[in-house]
Order: sequence, then structure tokens, then C-alpha cells
Amino acid sequence: MNPEMIDPVVQKLDKEAENAHTIYGENQSPDFKQVVEDGLQRRDLIKGLFTGAALAASGALAPSTLQAASITGLNFKPIKLSKGNDFIDVPEGYDAGLVIAWGDPVTANAPAFDPTRQTGASQSQQFGYNADMITYHSLPAWNSTNSRRGLLCVNHEYTDGVAMFPAYGATPTKDQVDAEITAHGVSVVEVEEFFGVWQYNANSGYNRRITGETEMQITGPAAGDPLMQTTADRSGTRVRGTLNNCAGGQTPWGTMLTAEENFNQYFANRNGMAAGVNRDNMARLGTMTGASARLWERFYDRFDQAKEPNEPNRFGWIVEFDPYDPNSVPKKRTALGRCKHECATTVVAKNGQVAVYSGDDERFDYLYKFVTAGVYNRDNRAANMDLLDNGTLYVAKFNADGSGQWIPMIHGTGPLTMANGWRNQADVLIRLRLAGDALGATRMDRPEDVEVNPVTGVVYLACTNNTSRGVGANPGIDAANPRANNRSGHIIEIKETGNDHTLTTFNWGIFMLCGDPDNMAHGTYFAGAPREKVSPIGAPDNVAFDNQGNLWIGTDGMESAIGWQDAIYACVTEGPERGTLLPFMSMPIGAETCGPTFTPDNETFFMAVQHPGEGGTYDKPTSRWPYGGNNIPRPAVVFVKKSWGRGVVGS
Ligand code: FEO
Ligand code: CA
Ligand code: CA
Repeated sequence: MNPEMIDPVVQKLDKEAENAHTIYGENQSPDFKQVVEDGLQRRDLIKGLFTGAALAASGALAPSTLQAASITGLNFKPIKLSKGNDFIDVPEGYDAGLVIAWGDPVTANAPAFDPTRQTGASQSQQFGYNADMITYHSLPAWNSTNSRRGLLCVNHEYTDGVAMFPAYGATPTKDQVDAEITAHGVSVVEVEEFFGVWQYNANSGYNRRITGETEMQITGPAAGDPLMQTTADRSGTRVRGTLNNCAGGQTPWGTMLTAEENFNQYFANRNGMAAGVNRDNMARLGTMTGASARLWERFYDRFDQAKEPNEPNRFGWIVEFDPYDPNSVPKKRTALGRCKHECATTVVAKNGQVAVYSGDDERFDYLYKFVTAGVYNRDNRAANMDLLDNGTLYVAKFNADGSGQWIPMIHGTGPLTMANGWRNQADVLIRLRLAGDALGATRMDRPEDVEVNPVTGVVYLACTNNTSRGVGANPGIDAANPRANNRSGHIIEIKETGNDHTLTTFNWGIFMLCGDPDNMAHGTYFAGAPREKVSPIGAPDNVAFDNQGNLWIGTDGMESAIGWQDAIYACVTEGPERGTLLPFMSMPIGAETCGPTFTPDNETFFMAVQHPGEGGTYDKPTSRWPYGGNNIPRPAVVFVKKSWGRGVVGS
């Protein structure tokens, strides 16, 4: 932090704090004061764990010459990357604090967290496990820009029984299974900032849990298709729950999109299915041939493909719901196709149509774009609520000359005909990967998050890694996936023709080839930035933009790629400092970074610490984050602000 920058800020904040006491100090109710004090204590408790003395023990450093890139709005002292540290580190002049952790009460009647006695009934009222995507929705209005009070929507990707429960055996109990099913899904909690500390309101009427049991509607072209029908739902239009929600998105009309990713792992006994198109498609998606890892099929037939061969077809979709209405029924939007959706990133095109970008996170799978038939209506929120049911889905082809096509995935066109065995559009959407195969789309190195630069309109795609390219019969390198042993992943820029997100052609380029810039064998590239302006980085996953067009990159799996614990970085995308990459935040042991998002004023940065202590067990944890002592690790949502609370994060 530049001291000339911070002094006036601190003085101003001191003044604001004084004023705040003048305004609120005497007249507030005891409850309000208690909330603030609890929050400050909570922050202090966590802060010790976040920035403990162990920092000094961190032997290896990020390049010491790294400096902030002031002309881009980024102006912070980069952190040192972490090895063996069980805390979160943030730059000098910043504080991080806990908002909510696995097991915290979400609904008013939720029981207190007791990891030795979790059931479906308790967990369905508490914050779920493995927080991933975060969206912030301002209150009171869906289109306000209030950055001090809002709704946090957080999805919960997956469960890890051995870490969640004591005595989790080879055959989990029904209570354990029910607690795992309900630890999936989404949590909605109202949050508010008091003097630089974010608190969630456990009694808010907005709070809700969406779980692996919550009834949802299936909408769009695949709704009702014979492949969507099951014993419990002959109509093929109602489904219980959402599973393995990874990233997602927030629509311009204020709903949350949450993406069902590795749904295949919950469905057992593919070998018991009848041979045919449906089983071939499940094989392409990788459902389990025998028992599933979690064994839910022991208690619920819907997870057994031999008994319910169509149930998996009801997962792998983008789910939309309205967090402002706690009674809203989530909808699986089948027009956006079925795969291992990593994300669903929306952008309003010049003509008002809405594009939704989504990666299919698997080695050698595809990048998709959906364009709505209708246009976004800024004045009539209700008119937008089913926009995602009608439109055109495309899959990306990256040409070696830097051009690219969005190939339409429309039944009856190209190879997707009756003669080739495609029944209708529902069939194309349910068997989406096979349709992409038929269309000759480009097989990517695990497409993860996609974000659109709010300043330039350029689209950024994080390909997290792929060490299988060129191995055996796998595809070899191509221009868009140029490294065979791609341990550290890369980031691609896509410039839509005319900056029009509805069109079907684009130009693209490699923005970053991740790795250790000091290791020539890694073959790194940082958008042309010199080595002294960048940091080692591996396995980019979740990304976000700030209002100035800087790309914030979270990693998942950096430790196995290049030896450092996962971290969040800020990266300059335009101008003379383009490619400059600064580490901002490091994770506790075993955790990946998820859900990075900003409040509209960019003064708060929210992120999710997923699977701290991964690889450990309840009885032998490898992390104690966030509560330390003898506590088990708990996935949680964290806020980061400038110390004293005010100022744009990163500036
Ligand atoms: Fe759940 Fe692709 O990360
Ligand atoms: Ca992810
Ligand atoms: Ca993102």
C-alpha cells in the first residue's frame, strides 16, 4: 500500500467512525450494539487465524520485485504465496472476516450445529457444505446498488462424509446420507455491513435453504421428454433437488443461476441399465458403472440407474431461482443444455438479447453460449423471468488462425438430424456432449469459469488444467490448448465480432499460460508482461471482474500444479500494465478459492473457502480453519475489506 494513499483515507475513516457513533451510538437498541460487538469479536477471532505469526515462517516468496500497478486502479502490496499455513492471508491494510460457515443456522428454527448429530432435518436448516459460487443481490430492490445490505446466495458443491462425520463407515447411516443430500444445494442469507464488518441475519425472512431434496420445476424444450420421466414424476417436469452446484451467475434481473457440475458421481449401477442411447449418453457423462461413492442408492432408488434410468437426465442443468422471493420454485432451464456446467455468466447484448456463457468442466469438453430469443426488459422485471426458456445454444470452435465460430446446436441442422438418430431438440439438449462431438467443437482443457470484462466486453475463459492431452488416444495439442502436459492451465480471451454477444463469430487469443514464470519448462506467458511483473499461478478456476476491468483469478489445485496453496490474484487486462499479476489472498491448508464476487461499489470482496483440510478426516483433520483449537475445518464464506472498512478493494 502506498502510504501517501492510505493516510488521508485513514483520517477520513476515523472521522466517519466518529460520526457514526454520534449518529447511532446513543439511540440504538442494545440488540444493534450487541450485533456490532459480536461482529467485531468475530472478526478479531478469525483475524488471528487469518494472519498469524506463521506468516513469517513462509519460506518461499512470490517474486519480491512485484509492485502494484497503479494506473489500472490496482494498488496493493502483493501477499507472499503460502506453503503449509493454515490461515488466510490478505495484503497489508486489509482485513478478512467470517460471514457464515458450514452448519451455521440459516432458518429461524434451525438447531445449533452439532457435527456428531447431523440429520437431514438439521442440515436442511443450516448452511450447507463446501460453499462455492457466491452472488450478492442488493436490498431492498432487485436493481438497487446498495453495497451495505443484501442477500448472499451461496451454492454448496459437494459433501465429504469422512470429513463431516465422526465414525463415517463403509456403509453410511441414513441420517448421514440425508444430511449429505441436504448439505448440497444453495443457501440464501441476508447480510449487512456494520462499521466494516459483515454479519448475516439468522432471522431474516429472506433466508432459505435449497437442498438436494427441494422440489423444482423442469422448463424449456426438454421438459416432459420421455427421457425426463421417472417413477416419481411421470410428467418429466418436476424434480427433487439440485446437486454438485459449482459456479453459476447472476442475471441482470436479479435471479441466481447455479450450475450443476459433476452430477454423474451420485448415480450408481450404469451396468444395470438397458443397452441403448440413454446408457451410451450416461457413459459419455461418466455416471457410475457400479456403486456410487456416497452410496445414496442404498436408501433411495432414484440414485440407482438400474431402477431409475432416467433420473440422471434431470441433473446437469442450469438452475434459476429468485432470491427475493423465498417461496419461488427453482427452475432447471433445459434450453441451456445438459453437461457438467461450471458456470452461467450472463451479459446483455447491444440489442437487449442476453448471452449466457458456460464451460463444461471435463478434460476435452466444450465451451457453450446460449443467446435468448427475447430481449431483456429493464422496466418490467416479471417479463424477464422466463427469458432463459427460449433461444439458441451454440458450442465453440477455436480455429488455428485466431478466428472462431459459435456452432448452433439446433435439431434438424447439420448432423443433428432424425436420420442420424437425433429425435428432437430435447434429445440434443439431453445428449449435449454427443451433439458437440458431432458438430466438431474444440476439445478444451477443462473449461471452468467464464467472465465478461465490464469495460471492454472481452470474454475470459479459465481452462484449469489437463495432463492427459496427447496421452494415448487422446487429442493432441491445438492452438487453443497449446500445452501437452498442461498442469497449470491457461486463460483464453474471446472477442466477439463487433463486440456483439449475439453473433456467431469471434476472434480469440491466449491471455495467460499459467505456471511458474521462473521455470522455463513451464512455458508460461502472461499477456506479454515481463517476468518481474507476474507471480507463479496454477490451475485458474473461478474468476471475477472488478468495475475497472481487472480480472480476479481464484485457483483450485495450485498445490499439485506448482506447490503453492491456492490463492486469489488480481490481473491487469488492458494498457501498458496488461498481464501484471498480483497475489491478493492465500487459502488455509487444503482449501480451494471459490465464488469471488464484489459488492456493486467494489468496497467488499466476498469469497468462499471450499474444502479446508481436504484429504483429512473428522478424527484426523489436516486443517483447523477457521476456528482453530480442536475444531474440525468448516467450509465458509469470507469478506475482505480495507482496514477501517472503506475504499475500493485492490485500489
Ligand atoms: Fe467444481 Fe469445475 O469446479
Ligand atoms: Ca470451480
Ligand atoms: Ca465467476
